[in-house]
Amino acid sequence: MYVLTGVTKRYTRGKDTVDALDGVDLTIADGDRLVIQGPTGGGKSTLLQMLGGLDKPSGGSVELDGTDLAGLSEARLTRVRSESIGFVFQSFNLIPTLSAQENVETALVPLGVKAGERRRRAAEALESVGLGERLGHLPAELSGGQQQRVAIARALVKRPKVLLADEPTGNLDESTRDEIMEVLEGLWKEHGLTFVMVTHDSTLARKAPRVVTIRKGRITVKENAGA
Ligand SMILES: Nc1ncnc2c1ncn2[C@@H]1O[C@H](COP(=O)(O)OP(=O)(O)OP(=O)(O)O)[C@@H](O)[C@H]1O
Ligand SMILES: [Mg+2]
Repeated sequence: MYVLTGVTKRYTRGKDTVDALDGVDLTIADGDRLVIQGPTGGGKSTLLQMLGGLDKPSGGSVELDGTDLAGLSEARLTRVRSESIGFVFQSFNLIPTLSAQENVETALVPLGVKAGERRRRAAEALESVGLGERLGHLPAELSGGQQQRVAIARALVKRPKVLLADEPTGNLDESTRDEIMEVLEGLWKEHGLTFVMVTHDSTLARKAPRVVTIRKGRITVKENAGA
């Protein structure tokens, strides 16, 4: 479970400062599914980075299961990230010279998983996103939707408890978008993940049980009774 208390993030460039997060209080229970939306520049990606320990807040605390991520050393934070948190981004961020299977395997290297086991688990993860027939393909030999499936398999192969996605369908056409959302929702249900997704897509937001809107670094939370 996440407990965010009074989280601020101030970016400074020369004389300019931007308060990307301005006192965010938010609790996210295990297995929760949360959508973050709001205008461009509102602080969505910044909030996701705080949840993922990719960056540290300027003030306040970001507790994951009772540990304040802001207080961890870089080495311990890297450990938490590689064990517990999966990321999916808008641009799939695959390594172009590695096959689908090798891309997925990279997530297991920091965990010290042996080569044979890595190959087996990567193949299994790719099968679970419907890409069992494409293990040896390079990213350039896959469609956009397929590349995003590889990125999802890479995020989930380590069996994280949290999945963070920043506009995962932003670069995809409408039908591929629906397909990727089905994959993500299926995995969320199957694995009991805590799933936080940034999206501009209001159709997706209407389907989420809880929606956080962030404007100028301040959040409002809405429960969707029907979702
Ligand atoms: N590294 C940085 N240095 C300085 N300012 C930054 C940095 N990263 C983000 N910002 C600023 O912080 C604010 C919030 O940015 P953020 O990326 O969180 O917005 P966002 O809601 O994700 O927007 P978008 O929908 O366009 O992705 C913006 O005003 C942005 O210019
Ligand atoms: Mg963003």
